[in-house]
This record gives sequence, structure tokens and C-alpha cells, in this order.
Amino acid sequence: MTVFADYAPWYDLLYQDKDYGAETAFVETRLRDHGASPGRLLDLGCGTGLHALVFARQGWSVAGIDLSHEMIASAKARAEQAGLSIPFRQGDACEAGLERDFDAVVSLFHVASYQTSRDALAAMFRTAHAALKPDGLFFFDYWYGGAVLAQGVETRVKVIEQTPLRLTRIAQSDHDEQAATVTVNYTLFCEDTDRGTIRRVDEAHRMRYWFPFEIDAALQASGFQPAAHAAWLTQDAPSTKSWAAYAVARKSGTP
Ligand SMILES: C[S@@+](CC[C@H](N)C(=O)[O-])C[C@H]1O[C@@H](n2cnc3c(N)ncnc32)[C@H](O)[C@@H]1O
Repeated sequence: MTVFADYAPWYDLLYQDKDYGAETAFVETRLRDHGASPGRLLDLGCGTGLHALVFARQGWSVAGIDLSHEMIASAKARAEQAGLSIPFRQGDACEAGLERDFDAVVSLFHVASYQTSRDALAAMFRTAHAALKPDGLFFFDYWYGGAVLAQGVETRVKVIEQTPLRLTRIAQSDHDEQAATVTVNYTLFCEDTDRGTIRRVDEAHRMRYWFPFEIDAALQASGFQPAAHAAWLTQDAPSTKSWAAYAVARKSGTP
């Protein structure tokens, strides 16, 4: 079973407090800073399509790919309900598909950290490269190693109530410093308070934290010119205070 299978139906509820509109506006501003204007945009690891729909409403012609059948089914249903034509397909971001001639590729909310080896990260970069026009822009975020090492991992509990549902998520993390990975063991208790039912879902998500120098090496080997690294939602250098950082790179050659 892949990750984001049993987890998918609860994903939007779990992240209902995440401001996809503001995040998309931030990413779009950074793309514009680097010379892009609304054109064709590919969302690699698009999940349930929440950023993709906002980009589409902003005038981008969007397509999305995600490994999880369940997340893609949710993205397709969301686009259909909104009356937006967005080709979403199930697929692996580490395998180049038929997508070509995009002005921008984005990969948001830690998709790059779901790639837990240098080879996998480079393969994802080559997919973005193949999909982009010459000089096209690639924007993605990742777990920043400096922050993970400084802050350490701890057990976290999140409770979301949306009557009649009550969702309790316990996240227990195992840190493997030699491999620069953190395995986040999620246990979800999904309660329907009207029916008095409760369901348990367990999923382990293995994440790789990255340092900008490793990312830049992989970008350069994949035909990109790195253009920026910064702490998520800022233009400041990645810092120990910000778990997530992002990178912007420009397609500049051949891998
Ligand atoms: C935390 S979710 C983020 C989803 C979406 N981008 C968002 O911001 O809500 C990470 C997503 O990455 C997808 N993913 C991880 N590895 C992938 C791969 N190799 N190819 C395609 N999708 C992948 C997962 O299926 C999941 O939907």
C-alpha cells in the first residue's frame, strides 16, 4: 500500500487551517519575480488539487500529477465540482511522462522530501526538466535540514472537530540521522459522533531533509540553474526557525 491511501479521505479536513490561497499567491509572486506570467503550470505531487485550483482561477492553465490514486480522485472531483478543466493524472513524479512545454513546474508541501534518496530527488528534477520549456521555472519546497537538526522531532497530536466528525491524529517520529530521514508514524482516529463509530488508520511517511548544497548539486546535474533558496513564505535565507524552505530554479541546459 502506498502512503496517502487510507489517509487521503481525511487530508483536506486535517489541513483545513492551511491557507492554500495565500500560499499560491506567494508562489505566484515568486514566479513573477523570476519573470514568469500566467501560462502553463504543472503541479507535481498535486495531492487533492488545492493549489492547482487556485492557480487555475488565477489564469494559469494547470495540470497535476500525484502518486496516490486516492488523492488524484479527490482532485478530479474538486475540479469537476468547481467547473474547472484540469487534467489530473496518477503517476510518479520520478518518471517523466508526456508533459511538455510548461512555463512553470511547482511541487508543494514537502513532495521533494517524500523523495528519500538523491537518485529519487534527481529523477523528480529530471521530470520537471522534461516538462518545462527552455528557461522555464521550477519552484518547490522541502524539509530544511538545518531546522530539523536544530528543532529535533517530537510526538505531536492534532484534533480537528467538524460536527459530526472528530479527527485525532498522533504523529510519532523516528529520526535516522545517518540517513537524514524522519519516519513519521501517523495514527488517525476518525470518529463519527452521530453514529458512534470510530475508525483507526495507520500510515508511516518517510521524509528526507535536505540542505541547499545537496539540492543545488542535484539541480545542476538535472539541467537547472539554482536561482534562490529561502525560508517558506519569506524571502529570508533558510533558518533553523523554519522547518520548510523553498527553492527556485531555471531550466538552463540538458541533464
Ligand atoms: C503532503 S502531500 C502535498 C499535496 C499537495 N501538494 C498539497 O500541497 O496539498 C504530498 C503529496 O506528494 C505526493 N507524492 C509523494 N511522492 C510522489 C511521487 N514520487 N510522485 C508523485 N506524487 C508524489 C503524495 O502522494 C502526496 O499527495
